[in-house]
Amino acid sequence: MHNLLRASIYGTGAYLPERILDNDALEQMVDTDDAWIRERTGIRERRIAHAKEATADLAEQAARTALERAGIEASALDLIILATVTPDQWVPPASCILQHRLGAKKAAAFDLNAACSGFLYSIAVANQMIASGNFRYVLVVGAETLSRVIDYTDRNTCILFGDGAGAALLGPARGDEGILAINLGADGGGGDLIQIPAGGSRQPPSHQTIEQRLHFVQMKGNEVFKLAVRSMLSSADAAMAQAGLERADIDWVVPHQANLRIIRAMVQRLGLEQSRIIITLDRHGNTSAASVPLALAEAIAQGKIAKGQTVLLTGFGAGLTWGSAVIRY
Ligand code: UT7
Repeated sequence: MHNLLRASIYGTGAYLPERILDNDALEQMVDTDDAWIRERTGIRERRIAHAKEATADLAEQAARTALERAGIEASALDLIILATVTPDQWVPPASCILQHRLGAKKAAAFDLNAACSGFLYSIAVANQMIASGNFRYVLVVGAETLSRVIDYTDRNTCILFGDGAGAALLGPARGDEGILAINLGADGGGGDLIQIPAGGSRQPPSHQTIEQRLHFVQMKGNEVFKLAVRSMLSSADAAMAQAGLERADIDWVVPHQANLRIIRAMVQRLGLEQSRIIITLDRHGNTSAASVPLALAEAIAQGKIAKGQTVLLTGFGAGLTWGSAVIRY
């Protein structure tokens, strides 16, 4: 029997570009070293898209795997939500490029920008659309080609980010499975902590903005660090309370993969076992909106997350934005 009040995950998929950028290679580019990067972030390597690959290409690969694993044809999709801060172009939306590539002719499609929290925001929207009864199958993809907006002369940021995509096919929940609770939040007062200053309507592209390198990500990492721990912690607590679950009920935590120290601090304060955390950032780096669905898809494919288990997803990012979801897989 289907539960029209909530959605569940029918299938997941992931895609990573082939090219690996490891810490040794970064040592040749900026004043950094492998030991510092591993100690301060937990990252060993990240993937970089081919010059011909853009976000919709990455999204398509992850989406095809999610559809296949769910056993759903693209023609059955009612809606596609693509969470990204690096769309192929400003217009058209990358979600529409994806819709066309997949041949999902009856699907509506839109992009969602909630930065690194994009997947959490997107599944919240998908959940409500499915609960309304008007949408049955919703494809949610988090995909990023962050390497296009990273300044590879800035050691504060270039060591952190990578490219990739993760996807989840959502449909009406069956039995007691599905999205049990979601908590979302934002604080626009922290907008300057992670930003790409130019290229939008406030500072359109000009020779000057390019010379000043204003089209690249700028981040005040240290300030973001503390806020990330605090907000993921409170939203995870709120989502667990909303689901009526205790910390001991959580089988797995799939956090946004920004920094191993952030993840460990958050999980320790939540009172959860470190062995219950899904970690992929050592190999993927921070892939923004792709990070949570990538980690989720990988953990499911590896058989770590099993049917019937309870999973806490939590994320944090530019905006500032944050969100957590409790799911019975
Ligand atoms: O996904 C969106 C959310 N983003 C995040 O969650 C990112 C959160 N922030 C972080 O992950 C960390 O703040 C960083 C990894 C970015 C930085 O680590 P940190 O422990 O906060 O270092 P810091 O910024 O306080 O810098 C410490 C020192 C500085 O040198 P001084 O001023 O003490 O001499 C930096 O210049 O480390 C220096 N440093 C580096 N050294 C070697 C900064 N980047 C590097 C580097 N290699 N790549």
